[in-house]
Amino acid sequence: MAQSFDLILRNGMVVTPNGTARTDIAVHHGRIAAIGGLGGASAAEETDLRGLTVLPGVIDTQVHFREPGLEHKEDLETGTRAAAQGGVVAIFEMPNTKQSTTTGEAILDKLARARGRAWVDHAFFIGAASDNIDHLAEWERIPGCAGIKVFMGSSTGNLLVADDQTLGAVLAQGFRRIAVHCEDEGRLIERKHVAEEGAHPRVHHHWRDVETALMASKRLVALAEKARRRVHVLHVTTAEEMDFLAAHKDLATVETTPQHLTLAAPECYERLGTYAQMNPPIRGAQHRDALWAAVASGVVDVLGSDHAPHTREEKDKPYPQSPSGMTGVQTLVPIMLDHVKQGRLSLERLVDLTSAGPARIYNLSGKGRIAVGYDADFTVVDLKAEKIITNDWIESRCGWTPFDGMKVTGWPLATIIRGQTVMRDGQLLGAAAGEPVRFQECR
Ligand code: DOR
Repeated sequence: MAQSFDLILRNGMVVTPNGTARTDIAVHHGRIAAIGGLGGASAAEETDLRGLTVLPGVIDTQVHFREPGLEHKEDLETGTRAAAQGGVVAIFEMPNTKQSTTTGEAILDKLARARGRAWVDHAFFIGAASDNIDHLAEWERIPGCAGIKVFMGSSTGNLLVADDQTLGAVLAQGFRRIAVHCEDEGRLIERKHVAEEGAHPRVHHHWRDVETALMASKRLVALAEKARRRVHVLHVTTAEEMDFLAAHKDLATVETTPQHLTLAAPECYERLGTYAQMNPPIRGAQHRDALWAAVASGVVDVLGSDHAPHTREEKDKPYPQSPSGMTGVQTLVPIMLDHVKQGRLSLERLVDLTSAGPARIYNLSGKGRIAVGYDADFTVVDLKAEKIITNDWIESRCGWTPFDGMKVTGWPLATIIRGQTVMRDGQLLGAAAGEPVRFQECR
C-alpha cells in the first residue's frame, strides 16, 4: 500500500547533512518522516517546490522583543510575526526586558504569555544579576529556558555583572553554556565623555572601542577557564577578539550579526545616524573584513540578529540619549542570502550558522537539520528573487529597518514550523501556534 503522510514537499533543492540535492520531504505528526523520491506516496497536503530551495528552519538565537511590552512597542506577538515573515522558525529572547527576566517565575510567565501569541517556536534567557546567583543552576534548566545571559557592560536595561568576583560566581552556577555580552563596564564609564563630547553617533565606536570589547572577552575566557564553563560570546565585532577567540574554541563559541557583516563606519553613521547605533557598535571596514574572515575560517558558530526594535521616537533622541539597537529578525535571511549571492559565503555555511550552529552550541532537541525524526522546520527560499527591503515590509511595531531601500537577491517564500505553513508568499497563515524550543539539558 502506498505510504500516506500529512505533508509532502516535492522537488525542492534541499540542504541536508548529505549535501544539497533535488528531492522530496515527507512530514508526519510535525516531524520529518522521509527524505527521497516519494513518487509513490501521498499526503493530505502536497506542495511543489520546483525552482525553490529548502533550508533547515532558520533559528535566531538573539532577539529583544521586550515581553511583557507596552502597547505601542514590540512584544512576543509582533516580534514573532516579524520572525515568521522573515523565514525564521524559532527565536531566543533576551532578558533585558522592561522588568528584567531574572527569576524562574518570570521565565514561566513568558512561556505562558507566548502560548497562542507566538507565531514561531521560542525560548527565553534568564538574566544573571547579583541577587539571583544562588538560583541560576535550578532556573537555567526550566524547559523553554535558553540558559543564562550575562551583560558585562551596560546596554539597554539595567542588567549588569560588571566585576570578576560576581562573574566568577555566576560561572560557577549550573552547567549549560552561558551567553555573554562582552563590553568592559569600567572602560565604558571611563570613556563616556567621548560620546558626550562627540554628540553624534559617529563617535559610538570610539566610545565603546575595540579595547572595551577585547578586555571583556579576555576577562570572560580567563574566568570560564577557571570555572571550566562553556561560554558563548555574543555579537563579536572586532578583528582582535576573533583572533583571541580562535585560540579558545575549546570553551568559547562565537556569534556575529548580519548588521556587523553588512554595515561599516563611518558611512553607516553619516547615512543612518542613531539608527545605526547598536552595542557593541558597528565598526570600520577593516573589522567587517575580519568578521568575514572568521566566517570563512569557521571561528564564527552562529549568527544572531540582536533584533532590538526601538521606536522612531526613541531613536530620534539626540545621541547619546538615543537607545542602541536595530531591528533584524525579519531581515536576517534576505540579507544573508544576498551575501551568498555575492559569493561571501556558501549556502551550506549559512545553514551551518543559522540552523546547525544553534543546535550544536545550545544542544537543541530535534531542530537544526533536515533529517528523519527532526522537527519539520523549513525555511523555503527563492535564491533568484530580486527584491527591495523596505520599511513597509517590516512587521515590527517600530516599522523601520536599517536596510530600507537595499536591493537583495534571495528571499524567504515560506516558513514551515513542525509541518505547519506559518508564512507563504508574504502572508501569515493559520494561528499563532509557536511552542517552546526543547533543549537536551533541560529536565
Ligand atoms: O544594541 C543593542 N541593543 N545591544 C544590546 O546588547 C541590547 C540591545 C537592546 O536590548 O536594545
